[in-house]
Amino acid sequence: MSQKVKDYSQYFIAPDLKAAKKRGKEEIQVLQFEQIPENMRQVGQGKKYLIQTYGCQMNVHDSETIAGILEQMGYTATEEEQEADIILLNTCAIRENAEDKVFGGLGRLKRLKLEKPDLILGVCGCMSQEESVVNRILQSYQHVDLIFGTHNIHRLPYLLQNALFSKEMVVEVWSKEGDVVENMPKVRTDGLRAWVNIMYGCDKFCTYCIVPYTRGKERSRRPEDVLNEIRDLARKGYQEVTLLGQNVNAYGKDFTDINYRFGDLMDDVRKIGIPRVRFTTSHPRDFDDHLIEVLAKRGNLVEHIHLPVQSGSSAVLKMMARKYTREQYLELARKIKQAIPDAVFTTDIIVGFPGETEEQFQETLSLVEEMQYDSAFTFIYSPREGTPAAKMKDDVPMEVKKERLQRLNDLQNEISRKKNEALRGQIVEVLVEGESKKNANVLSGRTRTNKLVNFTGPKHLIGKLVHVRIDEPQTWTLKGVWVDQEQLAQVGV
Ligand code: SAH
Ligand code: SF4
Ligand code: F3S
Repeated sequence: MSQKVKDYSQYFIAPDLKAAKKRGKEEIQVLQFEQIPENMRQVGQGKKYLIQTYGCQMNVHDSETIAGILEQMGYTATEEEQEADIILLNTCAIRENAEDKVFGGLGRLKRLKLEKPDLILGVCGCMSQEESVVNRILQSYQHVDLIFGTHNIHRLPYLLQNALFSKEMVVEVWSKEGDVVENMPKVRTDGLRAWVNIMYGCDKFCTYCIVPYTRGKERSRRPEDVLNEIRDLARKGYQEVTLLGQNVNAYGKDFTDINYRFGDLMDDVRKIGIPRVRFTTSHPRDFDDHLIEVLAKRGNLVEHIHLPVQSGSSAVLKMMARKYTREQYLELARKIKQAIPDAVFTTDIIVGFPGETEEQFQETLSLVEEMQYDSAFTFIYSPREGTPAAKMKDDVPMEVKKERLQRLNDLQNEISRKKNEALRGQIVEVLVEGESKKNANVLSGRTRTNKLVNFTGPKHLIGKLVHVRIDEPQTWTLKGVWVDQEQLAQVGV
């Protein structure tokens, strides 16, 4: 990859969903990010970039890497489309409405591209990994200059070089990937909280989900690379890290030389002096007893568990290929609660899976009632081309799906309100992120359990861990007042 490639035709590599499904047995290679080629180090001098990020935290963090690469080429960030010399859309393919937003954005940017022909307009992220999307862009959005996928972000300098000097659209999307690239530059959005990838890809192939095709096979970063990154963040004064993976509990399963799993990693992260450690997302299937034991040691490991259930019906879970039953999920939750009595659970739920009956939906309602989640992300099933569920017969009308979503949300909101109400009068620890978005006189931050708290207090608290007394709980947020050290001592905290 170090030599300059002049033959642009070789830069047309389109994605292939079938190829993406084949999981090779070949060893995972750890590659090091190479330096930006000499002739690309100055191309961005005096120029600006804008990255629009859609989708999950994985994408948010990928955008930080893309920004890091662009800044090493001399580009600086802007929030204004009009000012930008390069605009990248880092896309999400999880549901149809996520894709619609991107196509809407691309349509809108056409005028800007006409006004400013030198603008580089690129599409990356999960949608680029889909054949149908790339074909649609080739046909109907010819003002796009560059398409690259989730596996070849490290090649951005070369791809950009080609986009800058070629009149053709540059497309490079690798369908199968088994590599881990270390030492990529990153521009982290704040100096307080950081995302840290611990693994990439997903091998679960839940029947509704596009992620295993867009993100490749499960592969873990080496423990020393993860731990060194977190130690470095701690030294730089970060207060919180969130460990990222589509299924963090599968961490280490792919190591052939060491026996080191997610529980072991958490046990080592626990010893690093960073005040808060979160992780997302955990699949109930690989949540083992050792992990529960380690999480119960608490310290910087926060008592918040995001444990997506998807459905409360074992029959639907089977159709989804989640590989656990309602009972197994509830049993796992019971074990976690036993070890961590004040654990806060949140979840993801899909309603209207193909063929879901009213009774099966009611099982989801009863599971939500039983679990008493603090909050839930709820979605209407969206068929994704190339996935097994997209071929299943679906006789549930859209109005019924919408009505089920409403019933589920009504129930969850009632539970969320009740859960927050229980915090009235209590003093909680808050990591202060900044001024509230709505009111500059109010500060906002999050509890260990990831609840948003708005409170009154002096500005010098920003960036610190403080205590707040909750006096006005609401459904989605908590309102309170700062409790200083003196007051704390009085109440004996
Ligand atoms: N890896 C995570 C999920 C990542 S996707 C996990 O397994 O927990 C985030 C959520 O989007 C999923 O939990 C699921 O609830 C939802 N989702 C995924 N595919 C979907 C689809 N085709 N339609 C609707 N919701 C979907
Ligand atoms: Fe998708 Fe399932 Fe993998 Fe989560 S575990 S990313 S829902 S296939
Ligand atoms: Fe979307 Fe890709 Fe994340 S599909 S949810 S951005 S892994």
